[in-house]
Amino acid sequence: MTDQTLIILGASGDLTARLLLPGLGALLATGQVPGLTLIGAARDDWDSSRWRQRVAESFGDGVATDVVERARYLPTDVTSADDLRRVLDAAEGPAAIFFALPPAVTARACDALTELDLPEGTRLVLEKPFGIDGDAASALNRVLARLVPEERIHRVDHFLGKSTVLNILGLRFANRIFEPVLDAGHIASVDIVFDEALALEGRAGYYDHAGALADMIQSHLLQILALLAMEAPTTLEAAEFRDRKADVLRSTRPFSDDPAACSRRARYTAGELDGRKLPGYAEEPGVEASRGTETLAELVVTVDNWRWAGVPFRLRSGKAIGSSRKEAVITFKRPPRIPDGLYGCDQPDRLRIGFGPDRLALDFNINGPGDPFELDPVSLEAAFGPGDLPPYGEVLRGVFDNDPTLSVRGDTAEQCWRIVEPVVAAWRAGDVPLLEYPAGSSGPEDSLLT
Ligand code: BG6
Repeated sequence: MTDQTLIILGASGDLTARLLLPGLGALLATGQVPGLTLIGAARDDWDSSRWRQRVAESFGDGVATDVVERARYLPTDVTSADDLRRVLDAAEGPAAIFFALPPAVTARACDALTELDLPEGTRLVLEKPFGIDGDAASALNRVLARLVPEERIHRVDHFLGKSTVLNILGLRFANRIFEPVLDAGHIASVDIVFDEALALEGRAGYYDHAGALADMIQSHLLQILALLAMEAPTTLEAAEFRDRKADVLRSTRPFSDDPAACSRRARYTAGELDGRKLPGYAEEPGVEASRGTETLAELVVTVDNWRWAGVPFRLRSGKAIGSSRKEAVITFKRPPRIPDGLYGCDQPDRLRIGFGPDRLALDFNINGPGDPFELDPVSLEAAFGPGDLPPYGEVLRGVFDNDPTLSVRGDTAEQCWRIVEPVVAAWRAGDVPLLEYPAGSSGPEDSLLT
C-alpha cells in the first residue's frame, strides 16, 4: 500500500467522532495502512491541534501516534471549489474524500468538485442515505460519474462491514446444510428486524427528515436482504458480488404490489426505557411534529424470482423499543407430513442470525427428552466472533485497498429507493395511519410481524 490521505469533510461532526475515527483507529492499530495522512475539514474555526486532540481521543492511547501527530485541520466551506482545491493540495499521495455530511450538503460539495480536476486515484466515500429519494440518487450518481470511475466511489452502508452480516455468506455458501432448502419450496417467511433501544439521541436535524424507512430499511435492511436472498457468487470480488446483490434487489418490490397493505409506520410517545424517562418523539428538541416522521417502520417485500416468489420478506426497524431485537429469522414451512403417533409441537423450525448479540441459532423440533413420541423444540446455538474490526474499520479497509466490494454500487442505491418509493407515496397520501407506541414498549399493537 502506498502513502495516501484520508480527507474527512465534516470533520467536526458527530459521525466523525462517534463512528468514523474509532473505526479508523482500530484499522490503523492493525498496521494495515502505513503512511496515512489525515486531513480534517469543516466550517468550524478549529486549528490542527484541536483536531489532533479529537483524533487522539477517538483512537485511544498510543494508537497510530504518527498519524495523529501529522494530522491537519483546514477550516473549509465544503461547498466552495476554491476551498476544496486547497484541501486536496494538502494531500500526500492519492486521496480518499469522506463526505461525513448531511445528504444535501454532500450533493453541493460534489457539485463543487466538478469544477476541479481530481488527481488520479482519488476515491469518494459517501454516507447513507444516498440522496433523499430516487431522483436525487440518480442526479447524484450522474455528478459522481463526472468525477471518478464507479469503482472509486464508495457508497458506505456500515451494515455491510458488520462481521455478523458478512457471516451470512459463510453460513449459506460454505456448507451444504442450509443453502439447498433456502427457497420458496421450504421457507415460509424471512424477517429482518432491527429494533433498538436507542431513541433520537440529539439527531433531529438529520433524522426528522429521514425517518425509520429511509434511515434503516431503505439502506441497511435491504442490504441484509440482498445477502440472504442472493444466488451464490463465484467469487467475492466486487463485480461478481455486487452483480449478485443487484439481481436480488432488482427483483424486489412491495408485497402484492400493495404498498399501503404491506407497510406500517409509527412513532414513539413519552415513556420509560431502562429506568430513564423519555419524551415523546414529537416533543424532542428540533423535531417538527407536523412532519409526521416515523420512528418505526415495517415493510413486507417480495423477491419476485424463481427461488423466492411468494415468500414474504418482512423488514422492520424501530427506535426506543424496550425489548431490543436485532436479527434475521428464516422460518421454515411445516414438514409435509408428521407420522401419526408423534405429537405435541406446533412450533415451526427457524434459523436465527443475531446482529447483536452476534449469534446463530437453529430452533427445530425433535423427540423430547421424556416421552419419545412427544415432540419438543430444541435450539442449537453458536456464537459468531465480534470480527477483527468495527464496521467502519472494515468499510475503510475497502476504501484504502481500492476494493469496492462492501460499497453500494450506484444502480443498487437507486434500486433501493425504487423499492420504497411506492410506500413513501402511500404514506404521503395518508393511506397508512401513523400509529403510536410508548417509548420502552415493544412497538405498536398492530404489526405485520405478528
Ligand atoms: C445508523 C442509523 O446508520 O445505524 C442509526 O442512522 C442506527 O439510526 C444505527 O441507530 C444502527 O447501527 P449500529 O451499528 O449502531 O447498531
